[in-house]
Amino acid sequence: MSAERYAFAQVLARRAGALAHQYFRDRERLTVELKGPQDFVSHADRDVEALLRREIAAAFPQDAFLGEETAASFAGPLERCWIVDPIDGTHNFLRGIPYWNVAIAYLERGNRAEIGAVFDPVHDELFHARRGGGAWCDSGGMHTPVHVAATSTLPGAFVALGHHDRAPDAHHLEIRRRMIVDGLSMRNFGSGALQLAHVACGRLDGFIELQLSIWDAIGALAIVDEAGGRCAPFMPQPVTAKAACLASTPGIFDALARMSEIPAA
Ligand code: IPD
Ligand code: CA
Ligand code: CA
Repeated sequence: MSAERYAFAQVLARRAGALAHQYFRDRERLTVELKGPQDFVSHADRDVEALLRREIAAAFPQDAFLGEETAASFAGPLERCWIVDPIDGTHNFLRGIPYWNVAIAYLERGNRAEIGAVFDPVHDELFHARRGGGAWCDSGGMHTPVHVAATSTLPGAFVALGHHDRAPDAHHLEIRRRMIVDGLSMRNFGSGALQLAHVACGRLDGFIELQLSIWDAIGALAIVDEAGGRCAPFMPQPVTAKAACLASTPGIFDALARMSEIPAA
């Protein structure tokens, strides 16, 4: 059953990504709304989510669905549930910066995704994994296994530290300070799922964000796991709340957990 869903998730990510990419090319015509401070949404997010919901319901009518743009109507539980972020990195998307993705996860039950897919349509890179099947990047007709980097020390490590920019956060600023003191190279590219996929393929050594929603991370964390990385337990409670996310190459995981004070297990 999972094999069928895994194949479907990859096709679906490309289909939703193609629609999002169409909107991206034509973004001047989108009307942007504010959901809150620094929290943008447009017709593109809603339309891509509608496509995801429609196609999942047609293929697997018994499965549950949780999407960012309709999360308020999610009644749970997280069993046989698809979790999607139609456009992760909306602020980049609306500004014409090609760092955003369509994020899809499938959870059978429990606290982790069985399947994860992160599609970056602009660069034609589809990162995906199924538990026990390794992590992959499909691009330009190639199907390539991905693996985390071999980095084993903090000085010089290339680590993304995400932040939503909605309110100041002393803990975030303290992590940033410690990163500078310890000689890390810090980035924030503004898309949680894509930064995690980039940890999986070794472009980044780690990713930290203190307040992330389940749809930003749960599928991409399965990809990091399958790529040989380590991930701190991640499960917002309740499911539509936010939680801290930490994932990295094994060589710096414990040090990043200490630095960020995110529980490693
Ligand atoms: C956001 C991105 C961003 C992260 C925010 C998320 P959105 O998702 O993942 O990198 O810092 O916390 O809300 O709003 O672009 O889907
Ligand atoms: Ca998101
Ligand atoms: Ca989003």
